[in-house]
Amino acid sequence: MINKIQDLLKRVEEFAPTTAAEVEEFRIKILGKKGELNALMEEFKTVPAEQKRELGQKINALKQAAQEKINSLKTTLADSAAQKVAAVGDMTRPGSATADGTRHPISIVKNQIVEIFSRLGYTVAEGPEIEDDWHVFSALNFPLSHPARDMQDTFFVEKASSEPDTKDVLLRTHTSSIQVRAMEHQKPPIRIICPGRVFRNEAISYRAHCIFHQVEGLYIDEGVSFADMKQSILYFAKELFGETATIRMRPSYFPFTEPSAEVDVSCNLCGGKGCNVCKGTGWLEIMGCGMVDPNVLEASGIDSKKYSGFAFGMGVERIAMLKYGVKDLRLYFENDVRFLHQFDSAL
Ligand code: DAH
Repeated sequence: MINKIQDLLKRVEEFAPTTAAEVEEFRIKILGKKGELNALMEEFKTVPAEQKRELGQKINALKQAAQEKINSLKTTLADSAAQKVAAVGDMTRPGSATADGTRHPISIVKNQIVEIFSRLGYTVAEGPEIEDDWHVFSALNFPLSHPARDMQDTFFVEKASSEPDTKDVLLRTHTSSIQVRAMEHQKPPIRIICPGRVFRNEAISYRAHCIFHQVEGLYIDEGVSFADMKQSILYFAKELFGETATIRMRPSYFPFTEPSAEVDVSCNLCGGKGCNVCKGTGWLEIMGCGMVDPNVLEASGIDSKKYSGFAFGMGVERIAMLKYGVKDLRLYFENDVRFLHQFDSAL
């Protein structure tokens, strides 16, 4: 019997489980009702009286050792299970919220402009950024000597050396080129709004950049008048800058419109009283516009005796600067998230 006790004690000491289930199984096998320890107790009843003392002590020691080992295994295995859960994290916990990005202020304002005109029935038209002379200048009535055709103002795309350099391929300097493409392909009535990137050979400063964004508008139908243009632009100004906004038009010149005008909106910061943003005038310039020159209609195959129309064009960076009080245009291009996160919009 002493051998059995020693053997069991050895197994208890060497027992090295990895899971709590193994410990429980071992406990039942050793300490359970029908376990090995109880079997030894039964056998103990039959030992001669002179061995009882020694064997009794040994069995008690075995029982105690088995119990202690099982208890301590239970706690260490439970601890390591808890550690595993802690390492993985609580899988039922709600996910941590990720910070959503925000739309770029130029996109927000561009979308607002497009959305306002789409309420008046305008649809979006787009065109290529790399254009030809015809769509950017010639079809828009720019005389051959116009300074915009100069290298100083326009980026020309170099041809391969084998081809003659005709200065015909260029980066569009305005989105007015899109109206030419629309007039070539559509029949009146035409009512389009044309957002896009434009390129000019300008030194970069707080108020100018060589890449910026414009939105062009064009409406051609029978009997379209200057009054229609004025009312459409007034509606736009009130929608974008608020119900109290008013506009004024100053005579101006563009090769593709006649008559032409520059549109000012009442300064939304000082309400027209005069401040440093509107330079004391109470007015902010927001766009150019005019009645489409008959030469432009004819160049694109539209009968200028039957149809008339108006066009307008505005810089998105400029409108965004006025709307948000941004003082330096370069901020739009730096993509500093501290700047960008200030703009939030559903559009
Ligand atoms: N294309 C002009 C520019 O880049 C803006 C413009 C002015 C567009 C008057 C028009 C317009 O359609 O009628 O400065």
